[in-house]
Amino acid sequence: MTKEYMFPDDFLWGSSTSGPQSEGIEPGDGKGMSNWDYWYSVEPERFHGQIGPEKTSTFYKNFAQDLDLLVETGHTVFRTSIQWSRLIPQGRGEVNPQAVEFYRQVFQGVRDRGIQLYVNLYHFDLPYALQEEGGWESKEIVWAYEAYAKVCFQLFDDLVDRWITFNEPIVPVECGYLGDYHYPAKVDAKAAVAVGYHTQLASALAVRACHENNPEKKIAIVLNLTPAYAKSQDPEDLKAARIAELFQTKSFLDPSVKGHYPEELVDLMEEYGLTPEVTKEELQIIANHTVDFLGVNYYQPLRVQAPLLEYQDGDLLVPDHFFAPYDMPGKKINPHRGWEIYEQGLYDIALNLRDNYGNLEWLVTENGMGVEGEEVFKDHGRIQDAYRIDFVKGHLKELHRGIEEGSNCKGYMMWTFIDCWSWLNAYKNRYGFVELDYESQERTIKKSGLWFKEVSQANGFLEEE
Ligand code: BG6
Repeated sequence: MTKEYMFPDDFLWGSSTSGPQSEGIEPGDGKGMSNWDYWYSVEPERFHGQIGPEKTSTFYKNFAQDLDLLVETGHTVFRTSIQWSRLIPQGRGEVNPQAVEFYRQVFQGVRDRGIQLYVNLYHFDLPYALQEEGGWESKEIVWAYEAYAKVCFQLFDDLVDRWITFNEPIVPVECGYLGDYHYPAKVDAKAAVAVGYHTQLASALAVRACHENNPEKKIAIVLNLTPAYAKSQDPEDLKAARIAELFQTKSFLDPSVKGHYPEELVDLMEEYGLTPEVTKEELQIIANHTVDFLGVNYYQPLRVQAPLLEYQDGDLLVPDHFFAPYDMPGKKINPHRGWEIYEQGLYDIALNLRDNYGNLEWLVTENGMGVEGEEVFKDHGRIQDAYRIDFVKGHLKELHRGIEEGSNCKGYMMWTFIDCWSWLNAYKNRYGFVELDYESQERTIKKSGLWFKEVSQANGFLEEE
């Protein structure tokens, strides 16, 4: 039997990327140093293949031709980010005129092609001058970010359809202050909580500034809403899943959408002496300036069980004291990246937003399949990524189910447009609709990119079931 998966009339189709992962650095472009540029300059061996952020996918040089590929792959929406360190090289003060020209040309180019433009202000990249002042551990950075956001709204609001304050703000918290995966690679729970709180405050300030600049303009935050599933119905496993969700999801979702932190999270912070310095005025800003819609990044679920590590006074506190990862037997896996594939997670997110977050408007802003060594799938000059098409279809079916049941999802953006640089993983895992030959910088649309255009044009797809 043939089943139709058709999406609402105003549904958007596209992909996401970010400035630091795609633009590259050109001599004399006036860009300042970011935390990533700095880290690569001192520890290049940490980056896969020792490939750093200076070249990436050379979008800075090639954007005009690249934007044509958006059309060829059926985009009706595109998300990228402004690099703070490109626009305001020292983080505060002087604006780089070349950056203004570049971003205006890119944004105009997207619009000229009839594609909606979503622009993110922050995708893990801080000007290094501000990192040296203490980075997000310092409340001063919050005000610097607010000033930067205001500059962006003043310079580009006429070209941007919708704004985004931060991408996956929990990631720099986890990877930079609890893990060893983002600069400054510390393990310090108190610093992690302060970084999270400062980021949330900064996001609310950007929402306020956006609306002050243009009351009609909509602004969101992008969160990786990875549902936490418990290993069993055992109360200890259930508690672990609840806490994992508090940390990973609700820590930003609740204040961003509801305007306040969950009580259980506040109590836990208190209990472990992690509460940051908070003023009533700041909490009021967070309460008064919630987002207009939400971006959701979803790759894989979080499966957890009761913690295997017991916390003793004086231990370095880490998330493992609250929940342990659970490797579920028989799970479906993307063998090229090692991540679980669980399409229903997207349906669960859809219903969670419908039922617990006022059914606010949302879009999938990232979903995708990373493939290491993808060149082996090249045949007749094209990456034949049927696996990626299956991956997308599987997720779209679950999203469709969520929308049919009333969830307010308005679009689907893949990670990513052209294969891009991915932090410490550099070019290890390829995600793009468009293949990048890193050496020659040649671009070739993959099978999935051609397929996506058909889906976008038809506003859905048919499936034999
Ligand atoms: C997303 C990030 O969570 O994961 C992207 O927003 C990142 O910036 C992507 O590139 C893929 O990550 P990885 O580690 O598989 O290359």
